[in-house]
Amino acid sequence: MKKPLAIILALCLLAGAMPAAAAETPLTLAVASDLHYNIPEETLTFYTDDPVFGHANRRAAMENESGLIIDSFLQSVKETGADYVLISGDLADHGRGSPEEHLAVRDKLLAFEEETGTQVFVIDGNHDLGENSAVGIAGFKEIYKDLGYDHAISARAEDCSYTADLGEKYRLIALDSCDPTVSTEDGMSADKVTWVLKEAKAAKAEGRYPILMMHHNLLDHLPMQRIVSRNFIVRFHKTTAALFADAGIQLVLTGHEHCSDAAAYTSPAGSVIYDFATTSLTMYPLSYRVFRLTEDGIAYEAKNITEVDTAALNEAVAGYPEAALTAMDADLTAFSKQFLKKGVEYRLSLSLSADEDDFAAGLMNTVYGSLKSLLEMPLYGEGSAAALAAAYNIEIPQTPYATGWDLATEFVAAHYAGSERFDLTGPEVTALLRLAALVLRTVPADVTETAFAAAAARIADTERLSEARALAKKTLGGVTPGEVFIAALVSELVYGFTNDDAVDDNNGVLPGYGKTDRGAALRDRFFAFFLRLRDALTRFMQMLLQK
Ligand SMILES: [Fe+2]
Ligand SMILES: [Fe+2]
Repeated sequence: MKKPLAIILALCLLAGAMPAAAAETPLTLAVASDLHYNIPEETLTFYTDDPVFGHANRRAAMENESGLIIDSFLQSVKETGADYVLISGDLADHGRGSPEEHLAVRDKLLAFEEETGTQVFVIDGNHDLGENSAVGIAGFKEIYKDLGYDHAISARAEDCSYTADLGEKYRLIALDSCDPTVSTEDGMSADKVTWVLKEAKAAKAEGRYPILMMHHNLLDHLPMQRIVSRNFIVRFHKTTAALFADAGIQLVLTGHEHCSDAAAYTSPAGSVIYDFATTSLTMYPLSYRVFRLTEDGIAYEAKNITEVDTAALNEAVAGYPEAALTAMDADLTAFSKQFLKKGVEYRLSLSLSADEDDFAAGLMNTVYGSLKSLLEMPLYGEGSAAALAAAYNIEIPQTPYATGWDLATEFVAAHYAGSERFDLTGPEVTALLRLAALVLRTVPADVTETAFAAAAARIADTERLSEARALAKKTLGGVTPGEVFIAALVSELVYGFTNDDAVDDNNGVLPGYGKTDRGAALRDRFFAFFLRLRDALTRFMQMLLQK
C-alpha cells in the first residue's frame, strides 16, 4: 500500500472510531415585552355596559390584571428551562411618573432571579423614563441595577444602553432606542448606531455572536408602517438594518408595537437580519417567546399565559363581574381576545366623531355615523347590514361574526397575535370591503341634505367649497368608481392585517449564527461585481478595437 493512501485510510478508521460529537446544548432565551405593569385600581372602572367586558379600556390592555399576568409569566418561564429572561421595554405603564410601578415590577423580577438563579436582562421603553420626570435615565439604571446593569460588560453613560454575555457563545447588546425628551419619537442617533457596530465588532473579536435588544422596531411590521406610524420604527431603518446585518447581528428583539411579528431584511451585501417584535405580555394573546439557539439553527416558539389567579384579582380589585372572573378561569386566551376586541371597538367608536371645529364636521360626522351604525347592526338576518346591503345589490358573504365590529376587530386581533392567515378573496375580507362600499352608497343622500349645508356655512371661500363639492361628487357620487377607490385605498392595509410574510411570526426555525457565512456572501457579491466589471471592460475594449 502506498504511503499517502495508507495515511488516508488510517485517518478514516480513526474518524470512524471516534465518538460522535456531543449534541450542542442550546442557549434558551425567554423573551417578553411591554409588560405595562399597572398598580391595580381599588374599584374596577367600567367604560361600557357590557356585562363581561365593560372594563375593556381604550388601550385594550389588561391593566388591573397585569401584575398577576406577570406572576403567571414568571411561573411559566420556569418550565421552559430558560437560561436568561430578556424584556424589551415598557416595563411599567406610567413609568415616567411612577417609581412605585417600577419598584413593584422590579421586585417581581428580582424574586424570580433569586428563586431560580436565572438572570433577567431589561432595557427601557418609552413608557419607562423621561427627562424632568420622576424616573429619568439614572433612576431607571438604579432601580434595575440587578437586572442587567450588574452584569454589564460595557455601558453608555448618556442613556440606558449596555452589553452583557449570554452563555458561552453570545453577547446581548441592549440598546436604549428611546428619546427621553419626546415619548412619541424614537431616540436613534448616529452615535447609537456607531456604538452598536463597535460592540458587535468587539463581540465577534471575542468569538461571540451579537444579539440586539431594543424597544423600537427595526423593520416594518405592517405595510408602509415607517410612513404611517413613524414612531414605532427607528429612523433610517433600512440603512440601520443593513449596517447591523453586515456587522453580524442576525437576531433583533423588539417590542413597542404590541404585535407578534417576525420580519426579515437582506442587506445589499447579502446579510440577513430578523426583527422579532414581541407582543405586549398583558394584551391578547398574553404571549412571550422562547428561542433556542445552536450553531445550526434558531428555533422559536410563542407561549401563551393560560392562567391567572382570579381569586387574588377579586380580592385586590372590588367590583369584578362574576361573569368576567368565570370567563377568565374557563379560557384566559379567549377572554383576552374578546377583551382586546371590545377595547378596540370602544376606542374606535370614540374616535369616529369629528370635533366641532373640524373642516366639514357635519359631513364627517354623517359618514362616521353611517359607518358606526353599520358596524353596530347585526351582520346577518332581519334588519341587518347584509339585508341593507342586499337592497343596494351588494352581497355580504356568510361569516361567523355577529356584527361589523366583531368582524373588523378580528383583523386587529389577528395582527396582534401574529401568523395571520386570512384569504384575501375569502369571505372575511370580502365582507369587510363590501361593508365599506355600503357606507359609500348609504351616505351621499344625507351629505347633500344636511352635512354639506353645514360645511358650506363654515366655508367663506366659495371656490374651496365648489372644489370640495366636486371632490365629494367624484369620490362619493359615482358608486362603482368609489368602490374601486375604497378597495384600492384599503387593500394594502387589509393585506398587511390578513397575511403573514415568509417568516412565521410565532413558531419556526431559522439558520443559526454558525450557519450563515457572511464573508462568503460578501465574497460572492464582490466576485459577481468584478465579473460584471471584467465583462464591461472586455466589451469596451472590443468596441475600441473594432473602430
Ligand atoms: Fe408598549
Ligand atoms: Fe412602547
